[in-house]
Amino acid sequence: MRIGINKEHAEGERRVAATPDTVTRLAKSGHSVMVQGGAGSDAGYDDDAYADAGAEIAFGVGDIAGAVDVMVKIGTPSEYETGAMQQGAAVIGMLDARRNGGLLTHLAESGVTAFAMELVPRIARAQSMDVLSSQASLAGYKAVLIAADTIGKFFPMMMTAAGTIPPAQVLVLGAGVAGLQAIATAKRLGASVSAFDVRAVVAEQVESLGATFISAPSTEDAEAAGGYARAQTADENAAQQEFLAGHVAKSDVVITTAAIPGRAAPLLVSSEMLSGMKPGSVVVDLAAETGGNVEATEAGQTIDFEGITVHGPVNVPSTMPYHASSLYGRNVESLIGLLTDDVGDLALDFDDEVVDAICVTHGGEIRKNFEE
Ligand code: NAI
Repeated sequence: MRIGINKEHAEGERRVAATPDTVTRLAKSGHSVMVQGGAGSDAGYDDDAYADAGAEIAFGVGDIAGAVDVMVKIGTPSEYETGAMQQGAAVIGMLDARRNGGLLTHLAESGVTAFAMELVPRIARAQSMDVLSSQASLAGYKAVLIAADTIGKFFPMMMTAAGTIPPAQVLVLGAGVAGLQAIATAKRLGASVSAFDVRAVVAEQVESLGATFISAPSTEDAEAAGGYARAQTADENAAQQEFLAGHVAKSDVVITTAAIPGRAAPLLVSSEMLSGMKPGSVVVDLAAETGGNVEATEAGQTIDFEGITVHGPVNVPSTMPYHASSLYGRNVESLIGLLTDDVGDLALDFDDEVVDAICVTHGGEIRKNFEE
């Protein structure tokens, strides 16, 4: 089958949906790949590397979209791309389908079959296709580097002739994929790390990284279906903030990563809690894009809140486009294997849990109603 890779159109997006390595492996599986000239340039992959891997380099966005069976994107296809695609062609990307009803309508009306990468179920068999994990891991790592770069302190303990410097106190709130990577990274930099999550199962994972799990007094485990957290009640949330306030106040760095799938991010750190922190402390809110875990967060901005620096970075994986693209390309390649038959043609088995979960439009219809 013919696979197309265009340069991403979203502002500030530096990733590319396939690397030269991805192209090599797709070509080995019998697929031909068209790559737009310059598609990988912001991620560190040049046209020659794609051509050497066997890709055909083309230049027109519409020419590529109109020539292929599957367009692979990092984000959503533009209206122009969708309009150029053939009836029955497919698009794969992080479509943000739960919040993007207008796009789904447009894709269905255009006769495009669409697969939303963010909907890959969190089951063992689908781990190799799990873009939420591959990209969250990069974000967790980068959050620590942002904090380390901003704070006017060392992370590790330092014993010098001029005196001993204690390690930075780093608190990670939400210990899922991003949080665990943040913990591991902060530990590697020598910080003293503690973490909190509403899922009790996480305690062991936090401790296995050498960090301290702080447990809330008498809260119920909030693990829900699929290993995700359920939303907290208002009472639980108030109790959580009260219990966390002291820990936040003691921390030099707070990194927040808490999320509830399909909902706004839970508020964990109120402005009052921020006021209790030492001047010069740093907060990195990785949930900024979905409303933020920190009351003062402004998405896409770094602000000074009473002497505390609050970072609300968005699209953090795009700041590490080389590896973000390489992991994403692997995820996509694995998915293409699932979506194709022995001769490499699209063959959709809707009895397959993964295919059923991610296919949001097919045959002119929208397959998922997220408002239920
Ligand atoms: P996520 O991005 O939805 O949430 C991040 C973290 O925030 C979670 O650990 C969640 O428990 C925590 N959280 C939610 N509300 C909170 C609150 N009020 N206070 C503190 N923490 C709060 O989750 P993520 O990182 O995408 O993964 C969550 C889980 O999904 C994993 O730990 C695992 O069980 C499962 N998973 C399974 C995979 C697989 O089998 N393929 C792959 C990745 C994850």
